[in-house]
Amino acid sequence: MNADILVRGIAQLVTPEGPGPKRGAAMRQLRIVERAALAVAAGKFIWAGPEADWHGDAATTVNAQQRAVVPGLVDPHTHAVWAGDRLADFDARVAGVPYEQILAAGGGIWSTIRATAAASHEELVALAQPRIASLLRSGATVIEIKSGYGFQPDAEIAMLEVIRSQAEQTPARIIPTLLIHVPPKSAADRSAYVSDVCQTLIPEVAQRKLARAVDVFVEKEAWSAEEAEPILASAQQHGLAIKLHTEQFHRVGGLELGLRMGALSVDHLEACSADQVAAMVASSTIATILPGVSLHLGLPPAPGRKLIDAGAAVAVGTDLNPGSSPLFSASMALALAVRLNGLTAQEALVAGTVNAACALGLNDAGRIEPGLPADFLVLEGADWRELAYTLGSNPVREVWIRGERVVA
Ligand code: NIG
Ligand code: FE
Repeated sequence: MNADILVRGIAQLVTPEGPGPKRGAAMRQLRIVERAALAVAAGKFIWAGPEADWHGDAATTVNAQQRAVVPGLVDPHTHAVWAGDRLADFDARVAGVPYEQILAAGGGIWSTIRATAAASHEELVALAQPRIASLLRSGATVIEIKSGYGFQPDAEIAMLEVIRSQAEQTPARIIPTLLIHVPPKSAADRSAYVSDVCQTLIPEVAQRKLARAVDVFVEKEAWSAEEAEPILASAQQHGLAIKLHTEQFHRVGGLELGLRMGALSVDHLEACSADQVAAMVASSTIATILPGVSLHLGLPPAPGRKLIDAGAAVAVGTDLNPGSSPLFSASMALALAVRLNGLTAQEALVAGTVNAACALGLNDAGRIEPGLPADFLVLEGADWRELAYTLGSNPVREVWIRGERVVA
């Protein structure tokens, strides 16, 4: 076998195995190879196994110096493009004003929409760049980014154009999503807005390939399940996948709608009931949990432990955004999922790699396996569990994307 690069001296090579989401107990099954090596050619893994079993040739050999290697992380849920800040909200919330009350009064998400509308394309790209760089340094090699602070259809398109520019500037693979976030303030304008989204915005986004999926925020202070349904149906008619922000504060039918329509994922789930856990298990939809929100808003954590024990497929994301989750680290999201949602380190790794990839409809990320893009992390330590253990310092030493070291 001829490799462009051989990485040897790996104390532990740890990866989920095989395509498709891992559910229940399968979320704890990892391939762990001690004293390992991996080989890359043309940007893809061609081999991984015990170093003693490598008998090929390599143009370049790199020594991992007895550190652990895991797949590149996948962050399946971010709102990394925004302008302005939410520090006044933060003060108000610390003083006891609830997030939903701030939103209902025209602040919160609305204040970010106003600030984002006032910023130029170039300003938004410049603001997002260090956030993406931070996620990348934390180990995310695939990053989903949503629009949703545009509100006006033209402004949503402009946000997706910013995300496209961003994708051209980072080695990370960027997966864009159109988010239909909050409805017009006047009830009378809501149905016309939905029509505009279905008849103009979604067709343009699909035609220009500006997004791969459409997400809707279903919540008391946002869209009802009845309003979300035609938006999601329009997305599917135009060949786009669907996902939902749902069961964050209240149960208003979003989870059931998502499962019925075959959503890739339903995200948040802090308010998810035992019946809804059972419904998740019977579906192919992935439960994406966002522990940064529980930490930052003080919400009850989504029932990650219960979902996995019942047999569901769970993914973890940062939900990086200025209002509910200023969490700039994908590895920290795994560490928080262990503390707040009751995942084991093994489950957190699966949730942040292969399952997160599946939540984006990707089958070629989140695993170290011949034929897949050579996206992997060299950790600081020899034991991979430090990834889900470390708080407040970066456990990731090197980030490799398609066989190139992009963070050293
Ligand atoms: O995922 N819940 C709604 N949307 C985002 C928050 C956006 C914001 O507060 O700016 C979320 O939590
Ligand atoms: Fe979100």
